[in-house]
Amino acid sequence: MRLSSLFNYHLTPEVEHGFSRHLTHGKWVPNGDLPEMNRPLWRGTPVGKFPADLILYHQVIYRNRPDWIIETGSAQGGSSLFYGDMCDLMGHGQVITIDRHVEDRPTHSRVRQFIGNSAHPVIVNAVTELVRGCSVMVTLDSDHRESHVGKELSAYAPLVSDGQYLVVEDSQDPRPGRAYHAVEMFLVNNPEWERVPVERQFLLCVTRLGWLRRKVQTRFGI
Ligand SMILES: C[S@@+](CC[C@H](N)C(=O)[O-])C[C@H]1O[C@@H](n2cnc3c(N)ncnc32)[C@H](O)[C@@H]1O
Repeated sequence: MRLSSLFNYHLTPEVEHGFSRHLTHGKWVPNGDLPEMNRPLWRGTPVGKFPADLILYHQVIYRNRPDWIIETGSAQGGSSLFYGDMCDLMGHGQVITIDRHVEDRPTHSRVRQFIGNSAHPVIVNAVTELVRGCSVMVTLDSDHRESHVGKELSAYAPLVSDGQYLVVEDSQDPRPGRAYHAVEMFLVNNPEWERVPVERQFLLCVTRLGWLRRKVQTRFGI
């Protein structure tokens, strides 16, 4: 079915093709596989996000105003630059971004870069110390395999404050060994977390099933 027949929009052939790929494969084309003219940029830096997902991030950050946003997987630095700019717009918040590869990334006064394995205890301890006592949001966007995401969930979910989000990128793919299974296991074992379908707002996203929120605890447990 053609997408433009579902919605009363004018869609270019490129958009029709992109969306049908998205719908067929259940995922956005990896950034590196996109023709250069189709790659999303944030202030000139490549950002590996489906564009509508950036608006979702903006909405969640704006509403919840975390003191810290922790990102695993910096890539070229476009997403951490985006989060830093969102903090600038609100006049509040700082960003930690972690990647195992050194790269010439843009700098931002609100963004601190860590180099190393995001699941390594040295990195986890350093990040934990930095955010102690603050409100924290997390986005996991490094190695999307189940085993690594499971380690990241164990390390970073405890840092997330009540009412704040933990976003697991690329978690819609149910093939064995993928992040999806780490998230399912996490939700079964951690009833204080809930999945929120915020992505339904824009119909298409890459973060489908990946928006997790720590429930707000009340004094009486309700
Ligand atoms: C999907 S990209 C990140 C995209 C970026 N967040 C964005 O939106 O533009 C994944 C990144 O994770 C990094 N990475 C993979 N495994 C990692 C690990 N175990 N620890 C830290 N970084 C890792 C890779 O080097 C790569 O830069």
